[in-house]
Amino acid sequence: MKIGMLTSGGDCQALNAAMRGVVKTLANFDNKLVIYGFLNGYQGLIYGKYQEMRKNDFSGLLTRGGTILGTSRTPFKEIDIPTEDGLDKVKAMKATYKKLKLDCLVILGGNGTQKTANRLREEGLNVIHLPKTIDNDIYGTDVTFGFYSAIDIATRAIDCIHTTAASHNRVFIVEVMGHKVGWLTLYAGVGAGADVILIPEIPYDLDKVIKAIDARHKDGKQFTILAVAEGAISKELAKLPKKERKKIIADSKYPSVSYDIADKIQQKTGMEVRVTVPGHMQRGGEPGAYDRILCTRLGAAAGKAILDKDFGNMIAMVDGETKRVPLEDVAGKLKVVDPECSMVKEIRDLGISFGD
Ligand code: F6P
Repeated sequence: MKIGMLTSGGDCQALNAAMRGVVKTLANFDNKLVIYGFLNGYQGLIYGKYQEMRKNDFSGLLTRGGTILGTSRTPFKEIDIPTEDGLDKVKAMKATYKKLKLDCLVILGGNGTQKTANRLREEGLNVIHLPKTIDNDIYGTDVTFGFYSAIDIATRAIDCIHTTAASHNRVFIVEVMGHKVGWLTLYAGVGAGADVILIPEIPYDLDKVIKAIDARHKDGKQFTILAVAEGAISKELAKLPKKERKKIIADSKYPSVSYDIADKIQQKTGMEVRVTVPGHMQRGGEPGAYDRILCTRLGAAAGKAILDKDFGNMIAMVDGETKRVPLEDVAGKLKVVDPECSMVKEIRDLGISFGD
């Protein structure tokens, strides 16, 4: 059997562990397995840049962060726009697949990557997708790999702020990644005991945020910690049409939403506010135990789907079981935090503010 493998989009901690799971399983059943590792995501498939790899190239990867194949972003919305040197991307990818006589392409990535995988499926290629992203926003799987490792890092970042915050009479904002969704902020915020959690799914009212800070002061607390999602949005902005909203954000004088919030809190209350942005640290380092186990299981289930010649699926985790989910059912859908879910209600019951 000949399989191709690529990692696309932003990296995360457990990509290597997932590839190891796929290869170990396939090699266990097929001693003639040939693996082509495409370099730097879809770019490797477009330009025919790959390495022939052996089973042992995937040994020792369970704990290694990043991706041994490299990655890059090839935006789905530009998939039908030729490359700078005039290549038709989809045609080029199909040509590489055909030239190498691949039986299947294993694609590890997030939402955009999944859309391209689905496009390749529509074009007649055999594909299997594995759901990667620290954002946890892939529809059809309970969890994505990278998410739990990133929670640990974001939680520890807020923990560090906690001790310095407790020594000063200040407001601290920690900005957490997550793109358009609030999963990572919600989990890290709870894990680290943030006092205010702002996520895109629950637009905030600045006056309510300030009220939460005041309430803590009245309760004798000297400091307040806000976990703010990079995609957090005010109630006023949320009301605007998407295009107008995007323009206002792009034209903002602040580098990100946290600085905007910090400035406004400072102006309205006179309190000192500090912003910390852990940024790409959240995708770095080795995968945590949960992700290692998740990836090993998803990788094994992907290997089994390939051996069964059951292609065109994302390998998901649903209710603790691995599941083959047709790509056509999930590609292009986003999994967001439901503001009415029990977790949000429990957090509200604790007295933590969502600023709404
Ligand atoms: O999708 C993962 C992610 O880390 C998001 O949380 C974040 O918005 C984005 O990627 C950052 O992208 P880049 O690595 O291209 O700066």
